[in-house]
Amino acid sequence: MSKSLRTKIRSRLWIWTASAIPAVAALALISTCARAADLTAAAGSYSDTCAKCHGPAGKGDGPKAAELKDKDGKPVAIGDLSDCAKMSKITDDEMFKELKEGGASVGKSKFMTPYGDAMEDDEIKGLVAYVRTLCKK
Ligand code: HEC
Repeated sequence: MSKSLRTKIRSRLWIWTASAIPAVAALALISTCARAADLTAAAGSYSDTCAKCHGPAGKGDGPKAAELKDKDGKPVAIGDLSDCAKMSKITDDEMFKELKEGGASVGKSKFMTPYGDAMEDDEIKGLVAYVRTLCKK
């Protein structure tokens, strides 16, 4: 291979690499933003839909929580979503199922409403990710 050809190839390679760097960086940025946007949307639907029972920080102290009574008139316990030790035992798949098909589908309270008819799978996945951010202790 002649020296000039080698130089040409090397400079082409360099140009290719140099132009790939910003493309990769842009892609990384876009996916970070998309994730952040998902969480913002999920935070909105959490406070619209879930906080009335689970409370704004997931502690189970929403205004509707006190109204939930079982068939014997006893108050229904709402799990503390900020309890990391407890929440870490629930996998993302289980939580997804519980949100989509309701508490009864995973042997929990029927008061945990199924959201499969009201939400797209992606929205439910966003909520699973958002619920994970509530774990504080
Ligand atoms: C009508 C009240 C109510 C609403 C609204 C509600 N939940 Fe629940 N949620 C419950 C109850 C009751 C449980 C069951 C606790 C149990 O049986 O241990 C529960 C359980 C859960 C669990 C499992 C936690 C655990 O302790 O096992 C998650 C996660 C959850 N809810 C998330 C959500 C999300 C996200 C939304 C909004 C899309 C939502 N909930 C809306 C009442 C509600």
